[in-house]
Amino acid sequence: MSQSDTLSRRTLLMRMGIILNAGIAALLGIPVVGYLISPLARSRGIVDQPWLSLGSLDQYPSGQTRLATFRNPGVQPWDGKTADSACWVRRIDSHSFQVFAINCAHLGCPVRWFPQSRLFMCPCHGGVYYEDGSRASGPPERGLFQYDYKVKDGQLLIQAGELPTPGTPGPGQSTLVNIGEKLPWG
Ligand code: FES
Repeated sequence: MSQSDTLSRRTLLMRMGIILNAGIAALLGIPVVGYLISPLARSRGIVDQPWLSLGSLDQYPSGQTRLATFRNPGVQPWDGKTADSACWVRRIDSHSFQVFAINCAHLGCPVRWFPQSRLFMCPCHGGVYYEDGSRASGPPERGLFQYDYKVKDGQLLIQAGELPTPGTPGPGQSTLVNIGEKLPWG
C-alpha cells in the first residue's frame, strides 16, 4: 500500500467523521432551535394555538365557579391520563367568564375552590386567592394564571396547551408557556 493510498484513506475517514459529527450536531440542535424560535413564531401567529372545548355553556351557571377538564393538544398516544388537565371556570354573567389554570402561582400545586368563602386555596403552602383569581395571601406573588377563552356555538373554548409559569403578565392575561404547539418536526 503506497503512502498516497494511506493518506487518501485517512482523508476520507476524516471527512466522513466530520460529516457524521455535523449530522449529529444538527439533529441535536433542532429541538434547541425550535425552543428558541417558538415564542417568536407564536407571537407572530405562525404557530396556531388550538381552541379546546370545555363543553356547553349550560354546565357553567352564572355566579358560580366549576371545575372543568380538557386534554392537552400536544398529546401522544402513550400519555394516557397524564394528558388530562383541569381548570377552574368562573362564570361572571351570561357572557363573561374567567378560566383559571388549576396550578397555584407559587409552585404549581392544584388549588381548590371553596364556594362558602368564595376563595381558592392552595393546600401546599397556604396560598389564597379571591374569586377573581387575584392574590389574597400567602407565598404566591401574583394571582392565578388565566387562559384565553371564547364562546362559539354555545360552547366555551379555551386556548390551552399551555402551562402556567411565573413571569410578567401580558395585557389582560397571564404569562403562559406553550406545551402543545406542533413543531415542524413533531
Ligand atoms: S404551591 Fe401554592 S402556596 Fe406554594
